[in-house]
Amino acid sequence: MKVDVLLGLQWGDEGKGKIVDYLAENYQIVARFQGGPNAGHTLYYQGKKIVLHTIPSGVFQPHLDNVIGNGVVIDPVVLKKEIETLNAMDVDICPRLYISRKAHLILPTHKILDQASEQAKGNEKIGSTLRGIGPAYMDKTGRNGLRIGDIETADFSEKYEKLRQKHLHLLKLYDFSFSLEELETTWFEAIVFLKKFQLIDAEYFIQERLQKGERVLAEGAQGSMLDIEFGTYPYVTSSNTLTSGVCQGLGIAPTQIERVWGVSKAYCTRVGGGPFPTELFGEEGEALRAAGNEFGATTGRPRRCGWIDLPALKYAIMLNGATDLVITKADVLNHLQEIKVGTHYKIGGKATQKLPYDINTTPIEVEYTNFKAWGDIKTPIESIGDLPEALQGYVAFLEKELDIPVSIISVGPERNQLVVK
Ligand code: GDP
Ligand code: IMO
Ligand code: MG
Repeated sequence: MKVDVLLGLQWGDEGKGKIVDYLAENYQIVARFQGGPNAGHTLYYQGKKIVLHTIPSGVFQPHLDNVIGNGVVIDPVVLKKEIETLNAMDVDICPRLYISRKAHLILPTHKILDQASEQAKGNEKIGSTLRGIGPAYMDKTGRNGLRIGDIETADFSEKYEKLRQKHLHLLKLYDFSFSLEELETTWFEAIVFLKKFQLIDAEYFIQERLQKGERVLAEGAQGSMLDIEFGTYPYVTSSNTLTSGVCQGLGIAPTQIERVWGVSKAYCTRVGGGPFPTELFGEEGEALRAAGNEFGATTGRPRRCGWIDLPALKYAIMLNGATDLVITKADVLNHLQEIKVGTHYKIGGKATQKLPYDINTTPIEVEYTNFKAWGDIKTPIESIGDLPEALQGYVAFLEKELDIPVSIISVGPERNQLVVK
């Protein structure tokens, strides 16, 4: 059997968690392959909202196993809290959670380094979630990192101390005060807690399950435009958020990947710094933020809002080899005065659908096509034909311009508020 992938095509928060939760019943395993507690994936279970950071969004399907892959960076404290929240909802994840031994650990000092580095950047700060992501991946690629498999080794404390000392040296470069003691106490408590979970060699685990004919869904975090290689660098995260990241982050061969679901909002948001050509400002931006309730699931920060950006989406679809487009939050646009789609960038007077090398500094004008709002979406929706005609027209326009089928249209935050084409 092959592996399907679901990932974000924009700057994150496309509604991946909700769609994974919906699709999960068709799979036996859902696996996270990159990112860490910078992610916030929102689901509704029995009418209650829950935000997952590290645990795959298949967790509410009782038949399903959940894998945290080697490409993920784990903050044990965040993971422990997530598990406890699930336990409080009567979801016992212990027997169904498998963690790759090769996943790297986020240390308390990684979080402090993240904060110190962002503060030192002043106006040029990335707008990081300050969860220690960048410093943890730096230690991974710098070959200094600690992996969760190390907690099973006799010299774990020495390894920890060595890395901690290195971080304390680095922190002397910054004018940043901090206190570690409490953070370390809770961190070591969480390490003890995680010892009862199943640490695995996930690459073998997944391959053996595929051999048995089982289906795996790889769940992306962040979004394609935040990818370390192809995103709006340096305003990106530190991991490979694209389909290619699934191979690196789970130990799957490129030839094993089949369907790639790319998720996009019917508009666009981004949180943190960096370019956003179709961004709306002032009252317009605020109206969209209010309609979409666009506040970060992890940090609570207001998200920047704007129109859907076809050049950026085309780029993401190309890089991911997306086979299916999922459009979320179509309901948010129901009652806007007018809806726009950014179709082309105008750079130096020339229209193009390609992204420039330095999207941060290149002046870009955006050309738009206008659409009418579609009004209320009547429920129940059984097929695409039940959607308002104007929304059907909007979707057809996206399909044509992006040359990809729209397979799912989501019209509300709950699992079944969607229509499958
Ligand atoms: P993720 O990081 O991609 O999983 O997305 P987030 O959970 O950070 O943000 C998506 C937000 O939109 C969450 O609050 C979801 O509950 C909500 N959401 C998802 N799909 C829809 C939808 O179709 N309509 C509306 N109104 N809300 C949605
Ligand atoms: P999900 O999985 C939206 C953004 C941050 C910042 C940049 C770098 O919920 O879609 P980092 O903490 O990785 O150093 O931050 O990336 N960012 C996200 N934005 N959704 C996310 O995850 C994000 N994870 C990181 O806001 O601009
Ligand atoms: Mg999110």
